[in-house]
Amino acid sequence: MTTTGSLRELADLQAFSADPFTTMQRLYRDNGAISTVGAGPMRFRVVLGTEASAYILANSHVFSWEAAFAALTPLTGRSALLVNDGDRHRRLRRLVTPAFTARRVADHLDTVTRHIETAVAEWAPGDAVDVYPALRRAMRLATLESLFGSAAMERSEGLDDWLRDIHRAIDTDVVGGSIERGSGSPVWRRALLARSSVHRWVSAEIERRATQDDPGNDVLGALLRGVDGARLTDDEITDQLVSLLEAGAETTAAQLSWLLYCTLRDRPLWTRITAAIAERHAVEPDPPGLDHVVSETMRLYPATAIISRTVATEFTLAGQRFAPGDLLIFSPYHTHRLESVWPEPHRFDPSRWDPGSERYRRPAPHEFLPFGVGPHRCVGANFATMAIKAAFTAIARRIDGELMTTDARPVGLIGMHPSGGIVIRIDENH
Ligand code: HEM
Repeated sequence: MTTTGSLRELADLQAFSADPFTTMQRLYRDNGAISTVGAGPMRFRVVLGTEASAYILANSHVFSWEAAFAALTPLTGRSALLVNDGDRHRRLRRLVTPAFTARRVADHLDTVTRHIETAVAEWAPGDAVDVYPALRRAMRLATLESLFGSAAMERSEGLDDWLRDIHRAIDTDVVGGSIERGSGSPVWRRALLARSSVHRWVSAEIERRATQDDPGNDVLGALLRGVDGARLTDDEITDQLVSLLEAGAETTAAQLSWLLYCTLRDRPLWTRITAAIAERHAVEPDPPGLDHVVSETMRLYPATAIISRTVATEFTLAGQRFAPGDLLIFSPYHTHRLESVWPEPHRFDPSRWDPGSERYRRPAPHEFLPFGVGPHRCVGANFATMAIKAAFTAIARRIDGELMTTDARPVGLIGMHPSGGIVIRIDENH
């Protein structure tokens, strides 16, 4: 590599860390499918465009998740789904998936609605409220209750702070594995302490459950019950629950905030969708159009903006060689805004998802991937989609307001959220 080349790659790393979203657009325009960013242990390849995404998604066997996330296992635990490969991953996944079937998830929607209602009740008419922190807290509590049951909520003091500390370390760590960690950065040290507190808390919940006759209907109960006589060990269950808490709450809260932003910004759409919700009885299915609005929000603002992979087996893509150990990232955010796939890509247009509309086009899996694709596709995708819709419905039934945030900028790569929150002036007349 020339000195000019390496200087450019370091400058690109800086640009990527400061604003990954516009930097990806520029890298794609300047370099095409593959750009090299950074140097040494902080070197990674940004792989963009549909052909490259399709290759990555069709060739899971050339990547290792274990290698990609080895540095994170002190936080996630060794048995978390995301840090395992091959047979071990398949076994874990087979035992975790039944906890997230649509039927099981439906049991948790009242919980989501209740926590959202509590948050909304705090918003007084005339107030200008940043709804993001409140929704984030509500989704954390709802996730916690769905995982551990309502009785555990009284014992959950401290958990919220610990989870925030863990999330901060994972989110800053996602590219290159060492932006913030170093050997003892304060962010990393705090997260490690938080992890051991969460681990102790979850272990105590499992022990308490062992003394009861019925394992319960929450996710912990489903994991303890197992599948066809097989179940995870207590340690494996602890690792799942810690990572489910981390993976579930931040992403869902971020996605919900973008959903509110996108709908409140389009007043005729907001009026239409809230009227359709108001006409329905609570137990009726979603009003027509809500699915399209959710998909379109996930297209423009996917809460998981980038996904990383580590190469396990050498391959060549777009004329470039990838060697074992190389880190690469690809991006739902960037893919979802490609003009070659999405006409007027930056326009929020739910009719793209309406099979009755002439704008409708069913995307291929590598063109629309808010939950990833392949063996590690989000195990909580059902939960997330149903929870977001239940939460949005609860909000739309109770508040109206004027969106004060006019130009929300995304920040964060896992749990990509609006940097200045979403400020709404709550209407007097609702
Ligand atoms: C809108 C919300 C969500 C988004 C955008 C999202 C996105 C993703 C993505 C893109 C992946 C794939 C990562 C990869 O391929 O490397 C993933 C994996 C995962 N997600 Fe989600 N997720 C969301 C909500 C949830 C929820 C609610 C849960 C659980 C309660 C959850 C649990 C997980 C787990 C455990 C994995 C790892 C699966 C595996 O490695 O086999 N996620 N998620």
